[in-house]
Amino acid sequence: MTLITGAAGYIGSHVAKQLLEQDKDIVVVDNLSTGFQSTIDTLQKIKKFDFVKLDLKEFDKVAELFETYEIDTIMHFAAFSQVGESMQNPMKYYMNNTVNTTNLVKCASSYGVKKFIFSSTAATYGEPTLNDAQQTITEEFDTKPINPYGQSKLMSEQVIKDEAKVKKDFKYCIFRYFNVAGADIHYEGEKLAPRVGESHDPETHLIPLVVKTALQKREAITIFGEDYNTHDGTCIRDYIHVDDLADAHIKAIEYLDKNQSDTFNCGYGHGYSVKEIIKSVKETTKHEFKVIKGDRREGDPSILVSDNGKIIQKMKWKPKYNNLELIVKSAYEWEKKL
Ligand SMILES: NC(=O)c1ccc[n+]([C@@H]2O[C@H](COP(=O)([O-])OP(=O)(O)OC[C@H]3O[C@@H](n4cnc5c(N)ncnc54)[C@H](O)[C@@H]3O)[C@@H](O)[C@H]2O)c1
Repeated sequence: MTLITGAAGYIGSHVAKQLLEQDKDIVVVDNLSTGFQSTIDTLQKIKKFDFVKLDLKEFDKVAELFETYEIDTIMHFAAFSQVGESMQNPMKYYMNNTVNTTNLVKCASSYGVKKFIFSSTAATYGEPTLNDAQQTITEEFDTKPINPYGQSKLMSEQVIKDEAKVKKDFKYCIFRYFNVAGADIHYEGEKLAPRVGESHDPETHLIPLVVKTALQKREAITIFGEDYNTHDGTCIRDYIHVDDLADAHIKAIEYLDKNQSDTFNCGYGHGYSVKEIIKSVKETTKHEFKVIKGDRREGDPSILVSDNGKIIQKMKWKPKYNNLELIVKSAYEWEKKL
């Protein structure tokens, strides 16, 4: 059975959805701090599973889970992930992301869990140095996080790797996500009708923010800096559809049966600028809205795009939704439902 932490949240719910659709047995743990009971209820309609409302900081209760359930795989999404907040309140991040992950790894290892699949982030790379010859980030790049969020994840990666060095039957797959976007590709008849999607408070991710602006839930969208060294002066990011990312997690389960532990970037290997995203949202939603010029923000690298050759070659991962219009459309249909 697979234990999923954080499945009431954005990415975890998409992975849970895919596992349930494949009739797999899961148990979900979430404290609903940033996730939603309604997401759990939606997932229960696909296939019934046990939901344990629990905070991972309750170490005794976490250990009890391993007494109750035969867990062979853990997919660990539960974490806080607001970069700005992590700079204001680093302890919140080190406690939830690093300390609670350390305890989960300790339990997993002592109860004989075989596979640990971990949500890491491109924020572990910090502000990578790129040049004309090297415009994408490989897993070999130096990891130099520039905020406590990225650091809390990098420290968790190290904990997982160190334990795997001494416990030979404990394998891990670390995924460093680039910018995750879009919502459940699910159709009702001809109509795209996502059952789960992205909902953060406050929302800091560009695509949901622009989509909210298109729906007049916000007055305007601000572009932070138009003088970056990119083709249109705005920052470039690699947006990966959440269902493709979820699929990589499912692939990782079988991958670890036959292969060694490893770390993979998750992205499409090409990026879009802030202005291109805004244009795509305007075209897809057919709504006009106000765009404001703002100053650069500290710690925003001009380009963050993955080199995804490793996951494609080694894991045979084949993205299906590498299509900005579909990413935006699914985010828009989800946002309309909220
Ligand atoms: N969204 C992105 O673009 C992105 C990018 C890189 C990495 N990540 C990582 O992916 C993971 C999932 O991100 P998300 O966007 O789905 O976030 P999310 O906030 O939507 O989901 C996180 C879930 O974890 C739960 N949770 C948090 N702390 C908990 C605790 N102590 N005990 C139990 N449950 C707890 C929350 O209630 C929530 O349901 C996180 O680890 C995040 O750092 C996300």
